[in-house]
Amino acid sequence: MEGKLNSHSVDLVVEGRCYINGIISECAIAVDEGKIVAIGKPVNMPKADSRMSVNGKRIILPGMVDMHVHMRDLEEVHKEDWYSGSLSALAGGVTFVADMPNNKPYIDSLERLKLKLNIAKRKALIDFGFYVGYPSQLKELQEMKDFGILGIKIYPTDYNKGLERLAKSCEKLNIPIILHAEDPEIIEKQHFEAERKVENHHLLRPEKAEIIAIKNLLGLLSKFKTAIHFTHISSFEAASELINAKKRGELFTWDTCPHYFFLDHSLTLKLKGIAKTNPPLRSSMSARLLSNIVYHLLIDSISTDHAPHALEEKLRDNYDEIPSGFPGLEICLPLLMKLIIDEKFPLEVLELYSSKPAKILQIPKGSLLPGLDGDLVIYDYSIRWSIHGENFYSKAKYTPFEGMEVVGKPDTVIIRGEIAWEKGEDKVKQGFGKYVRPYRSSNSELKI
Ligand code: DOR
Ligand code: ZN
Repeated sequence: MEGKLNSHSVDLVVEGRCYINGIISECAIAVDEGKIVAIGKPVNMPKADSRMSVNGKRIILPGMVDMHVHMRDLEEVHKEDWYSGSLSALAGGVTFVADMPNNKPYIDSLERLKLKLNIAKRKALIDFGFYVGYPSQLKELQEMKDFGILGIKIYPTDYNKGLERLAKSCEKLNIPIILHAEDPEIIEKQHFEAERKVENHHLLRPEKAEIIAIKNLLGLLSKFKTAIHFTHISSFEAASELINAKKRGELFTWDTCPHYFFLDHSLTLKLKGIAKTNPPLRSSMSARLLSNIVYHLLIDSISTDHAPHALEEKLRDNYDEIPSGFPGLEICLPLLMKLIIDEKFPLEVLELYSSKPAKILQIPKGSLLPGLDGDLVIYDYSIRWSIHGENFYSKAKYTPFEGMEVVGKPDTVIIRGEIAWEKGEDKVKQGFGKYVRPYRSSNSELKI
């Protein structure tokens, strides 16, 4: 694995116990000009301008990749901005985020993509990419692809806009489609079945809505040869539907979020609007079974759906006025590490939050491999701590995970060979974060 770099001095060599493909072993990683250039025995590493030795209860992980976040900003800086969102990501060992288009204003055109890029470029500390909403003009798709979009995000409100027409264009250009699966007609009908209060959120948006949407969307889109991804799958039933569809040979990928396998809807009794999210939290049985699916790695990715809102908004009394979603970036890795250290999850679960989403998105991140970006997390697992929203770096200082015990924290986060985060402090300037285009934006032949 070692590169032929013995005569040249590289920027950085980090040595210690490294996570590579489900195994932790003593090794060293050389980074030069932002890229990993060699991995191997410490004695075989090239000379380096800077050397770091990772010891004690610390391991070297790849930078985590979160394929579903809402960094807000634009007209919603009161909820989050690219700086506060970056801090939240760094605290959670995340070096790349894929940002959703439901901003104010909605990102559905090239012009708005450029507007968002200008802001993110100025403020981000971490690397990032964008999805775009259903385009206001399909003729802009080619330029959006050249711009480097990660895919088109389809919300339930887009289902009637002509998904086959969109899929046909996406197929031609090799642009992925990312789906929020919840059937709006079932949700509409359900409005008369239960009183509109947050404790009934899971009844007002039942599992059935997710399952029917999956069936309809697969029926509609699987004939197109464009990549399809179902995001934030909430229930065991829906997950089973997807696993069975894969067995039948259907091609797509899917993710779930930690809140769907750690938490359940009973939290809405205690935490009210704080626990409101779309799709809703499900039963404790569903969470346990979904956790088993993650355990067996029968899933393609884990994302957080980091969806910050102002606390006042989440504490509203009127069900319809409480926005859905909560922050997740800074706790996902510590939650996974807790299950890994307690031997309830295999180590490979880390791939679901690093190499797997990177592969789906087609970006050069998420693994300790020569040629990829030098994104490393030095994770200190010596401490157990309890999650408290008030300590978050996100502007959204609350969480339905309040009080839950987790294991460890990123001690140092390195992005493209630079120390971006150390002992709870950001070490790079705003604007350090780089816009990342997927491989497919410059090579239309490459498929997932
Ligand atoms: O809970 C959610 N929050 N679900 C979504 O689909 C959107 C998100 C948000 O933007 O707040
Ligand atoms: Zn979302």
